[in-house]
Amino acid sequence: MQKKKLLMYQFELLFLYIGLLNLRLCASVLSLSSSSLEQGDAGSIRWFREAKNYEGSSDLVDVEYHMGPVLASPISLYIIWYGHWNPVHQATIRDFIYSLSSASSSSSASYPSVSAWWRTVRLYTDQTGSNVTGTIDLSGQFYNFKYSHGADLSRLDVQSIIRNAVTSHPNGLPLDPQSGLYLVLTSIDVQVQDFCRAVCGFHYFTFPNVVGATVPYAWVGHSGAQCPGMCAYPFAWPKDYYGKPPPSTSTGGNNLMRPPNGDPGVDGMISVIAHELAEASTNPLVNAWYAGDDPTAPAEIADMCLGVYGTGGGGGYAGVVSKDSWGNGYNLNGVRGRRYLVQWVWDPVRRRCFGPNALD
Ligand SMILES: *[C@@H]1O[C@H](CO)[C@@H](O)[C@H](O)[C@H]1NC(C)=O
Repeated sequence: MQKKKLLMYQFELLFLYIGLLNLRLCASVLSLSSSSLEQGDAGSIRWFREAKNYEGSSDLVDVEYHMGPVLASPISLYIIWYGHWNPVHQATIRDFIYSLSSASSSSSASYPSVSAWWRTVRLYTDQTGSNVTGTIDLSGQFYNFKYSHGADLSRLDVQSIIRNAVTSHPNGLPLDPQSGLYLVLTSIDVQVQDFCRAVCGFHYFTFPNVVGATVPYAWVGHSGAQCPGMCAYPFAWPKDYYGKPPPSTSTGGNNLMRPPNGDPGVDGMISVIAHELAEASTNPLVNAWYAGDDPTAPAEIADMCLGVYGTGGGGGYAGVVSKDSWGNGYNLNGVRGRRYLVQWVWDPVRRRCFGPNALD
């Protein structure tokens, strides 16, 4: 039993593993004040230097297919809002989900768009030759504003929260093992096991004895009060090291940017949500697309490109992205005039990290 638990735990550890990063760094940045924006620190610099940058080359890595399924049918996405959520923040996140599908974005988003970013994820196929779907429908939302499992959650609690949502009456979500993908989003005051120490989010699949079926799911936390320097980079900078500012760059001043939708924690969540959705779609049962020999600690398609948002990104530099006149950084356009900053993912055809705002 204990062993089994340990194994499960290892499996879950995979995702958004800031495995490339130096965990020590993750020491907390307690609040995002303007002073923390200015301070920055060299620890993170080392952290990012140690992170491998796969933007330009591919010889060292190979994302391989391990015969499992990908999410090839249109995805019914169910959001579970856990805790106390600001409606403005919910709208930012919802609009990002609406921006992913090509059909909806045709109405407004110009290139480089969120749906163009998803096109790289669609390059992954299963053994029948079916690509990851281009359709992600927001099919239901559940509001767990009573913190049914408290404000300090274990990883397994996340599955219990899904169970709670699919068994609630009268406003519960359907249990949808055919096309469902459940996204649990915890509010700013909720702690989750390993959040801010090893992970900003993770994805996995539910256990039938907990939820009633095997369904892929992801969890992402709001890091705004707990560790924006780790989980909302480059809107915040880790500050546990010598108090040095972030490195300046030849192309764009320093790397700190203002969040395009006004909240570092939420704008940081957008990129983590994108990261987890990309990985859940290409590796939903943890037996499809990943790099590395160890299935308990794989590098998935977004892990390979952590911290890379544009050409030249990596090593503590976000890459070439757009900044509006207020200094808000973004690289993708979404529906209704939204702008988002989203990390790149591994492109299996180009064999490098890629996004639609690439200059080459
Ligand atoms: C499906 O994946 C293959 C292999 O990466 C790619 O050549 C093709 O363009 C993809 N199709 C779509 C619709 O993305």
